[in-house]
Amino acid sequence: CGIVGYIGSSKASNVLLEGLSRLEYRGYDSAGLCLLEDGVIEITRSVGKLVNLKEAVKDRDFKATAGIGHTRWATHGKPSFENAHPHKSKNISLVHNGIIENYLLLKEKLTEKGYSFKSETDTEVIAHLIESLYEGDLLKAVQAALAELKGSYALGVISEKEPDKVIVARKDSPLVLGVGSGEMFAASDIPAVLSHTRTFVFLEDGDVAEITRNGYTIYDAAGSAVDRETKNIDWNPVMAEKAGYRHFMQKEINEQPRALIDTIRGKYSLESGDVFFDLSKDLKESLKDITRIVIVACGTSWHAGLVGKFYIEKFARIPVEVDIASEYRYRDLIADEKLLFIAISQSGETADTLSAMRMVKKMGAKVISICNVVGSSIARESHSVIYTHAGPEIGVASTKAFTTQVASLFLFAMYLGRQRETMSAGESREFLKELVGIPDKLEHVLRLDGEIEDLAKKYKDASDFLYLGRNVNYPIALEGALKLKEISYIHAEGYPAGEMKHGPIALIDSELPVFVIAVKGSVYDKTASNVEEVKARDGIVIAIVTEGDTELAGKADHIIEVPDVPEELSVFLTVTATQIFAYHCANLLGLDVDQPRNLAKSVTVE
Ligand code: G6P
Repeated sequence: CGIVGYIGSSKASNVLLEGLSRLEYRGYDSAGLCLLEDGVIEITRSVGKLVNLKEAVKDRDFKATAGIGHTRWATHGKPSFENAHPHKSKNISLVHNGIIENYLLLKEKLTEKGYSFKSETDTEVIAHLIESLYEGDLLKAVQAALAELKGSYALGVISEKEPDKVIVARKDSPLVLGVGSGEMFAASDIPAVLSHTRTFVFLEDGDVAEITRNGYTIYDAAGSAVDRETKNIDWNPVMAEKAGYRHFMQKEINEQPRALIDTIRGKYSLESGDVFFDLSKDLKESLKDITRIVIVACGTSWHAGLVGKFYIEKFARIPVEVDIASEYRYRDLIADEKLLFIAISQSGETADTLSAMRMVKKMGAKVISICNVVGSSIARESHSVIYTHAGPEIGVASTKAFTTQVASLFLFAMYLGRQRETMSAGESREFLKELVGIPDKLEHVLRLDGEIEDLAKKYKDASDFLYLGRNVNYPIALEGALKLKEISYIHAEGYPAGEMKHGPIALIDSELPVFVIAVKGSVYDKTASNVEEVKARDGIVIAIVTEGDTELAGKADHIIEVPDVPEELSVFLTVTATQIFAYHCANLLGLDVDQPRNLAKSVTVE
């Protein structure tokens, strides 16, 4: 979602609509405005893209000089008019980006107090909560409400009773203040208000700010007034849309730590080692009786499925078959109520995946989907859905959708393992601790950007590449090769490293760069032997290894070192290194990284 707030002397509706159009890439399920005119709140909302909201207000002559706006990417509750922001409770209205984890509990409490809910969102809960705590000071009411919220938020709040201010707050969701003269702005992203000001203040987690026509005051999580540095931003408008990155794909690669945090948020307890999913009651029960699992998907999502097989078989000891949707659906299917079918789809609209799902559902199978787009067809038609919270993915080559799918599968495998008692609480706690540490370690891989770009400079003109990996990193070899072909148009093949001797070894000569994923773990020695085999035939080896690996450093032509984590979780780090490499090759070759030729983001035809 994207949020924007304004208070000043210009027409707020114009400032907000312009801001929203720059934020539309963050979601376009619905959009809305709340304007404060003569001390009265007026809300306009519409479903779908921003043009619909613009159409709805085009003949209106709003005079308001303060207001808030929102463009939605659905997380709780389908895209609909009722669920569109801003939400309202008596004379308080707000917009929200983020996910409130304890909203059900708060909803119950507020319902008991007599508040009634018009939407399915977690946001409406915040509106009623602030209203219930209001005692004549909006800032204080917001601060008190935040103390009760668990989860992530960027908020903009206004009240009819205090028309000369907008209260904003952030935790784990982005929010910046734009400083003008006689006016103030707040937005999810810089580009939203960059045409009005170049002076920005970046709020920190837990900050709450009161903005007025005369300036702003920021309070930290403990409630003390604090100074935050102002920054001057000199981005051009094109750079701004991509948050300073050259391409959406580069931005999305860099967003992965945040996307992972959002995806796993609220789904585990480090104390008990338990994993939670919001599955239907019936499904939860029937999961106990399933005897096998089939995962079906296309493209990058299929690769996530291949990683998921390792997790489920290891943690839950249930046999898993992974198939490509366009193959699966044309076979003589074997499915009944003992089968759990998992459809993985970023868009939730891929035609082949949807058809395969409908077929097994008819045959009685239990169906779960892992989707990024809320309310999409696959999400709606499955018995239960696990949403990844990657946020909108714009680059056609999938990056953050993949890592969040893998994280969801990891947790789901643990969930099944705990349910079947094939995984102990102790083991589960250990893995959870490691999973929680991944976003930080991923930041470390992101910092290798320059180093990996140098490799891309060296090898971008090669005509072929080979990617090798074993075990959980075998699907990463496939994904690394797919990324490179998709956006740089260089032919690349991914192969299980042990299978190289049965074919691809014939391709090896001094011209062929070979990526070998050889991180520490159960298959390290075997993969190290494959490096020797490539070197013996004069191939060029780029090895992705665990930090401190001196053995392969001496053998490979180049090494990319990633932090030391359990083998199962190394995929997050190794895949990111291959994404960065593919990105730089395509960029250095001057290609259209975000919209590669012949490809589409979502393939809704067979
Ligand atoms: C297209 C996209 C890929 C994606 C695949 C599956 O080919 O270009 O990036 O992996 O579809 O899409 P889905 O939305 O089902 O994950």
